[in-house]
Amino acid sequence: MSAEPVRLCAVGDLADGDIASIEIDGVAIAYARVGDEWFAIDDTCSHAKVSLADGIVDEDECAIECPKHGALFSLRSGEAMTFPATKPVRSHAVVVDDGEVLVSIRQEDG
Ligand code: FES
Repeated sequence: MSAEPVRLCAVGDLADGDIASIEIDGVAIAYARVGDEWFAIDDTCSHAKVSLADGIVDEDECAIECPKHGALFSLRSGEAMTFPATKPVRSHAVVVDDGEVLVSIRQEDG
């Protein structure tokens, strides 16, 4: 189940390879741009509660590298791709509509 789409930013607000965060209904969401694709995942690392938006986007892997211990999380699925993280974070559907980037927050875990 997904909630109604919520505006993240305008397309011009993030450059290729940038990541930012926003709080929506009390949940921190990290969103990133890779080329012309946009992604959103939960911002809190599943390993030790730091902000993934403070990490570095790995464009080749389409992933975010956690700033604390370096685990890679898939921007597409939220999967933990490398140790020390073993649990995923939620990924959320992103659409671009008329120059606006919108996210639909997934309500269930996983
Ligand atoms: S806090 Fe993210 S990998 Fe440890």
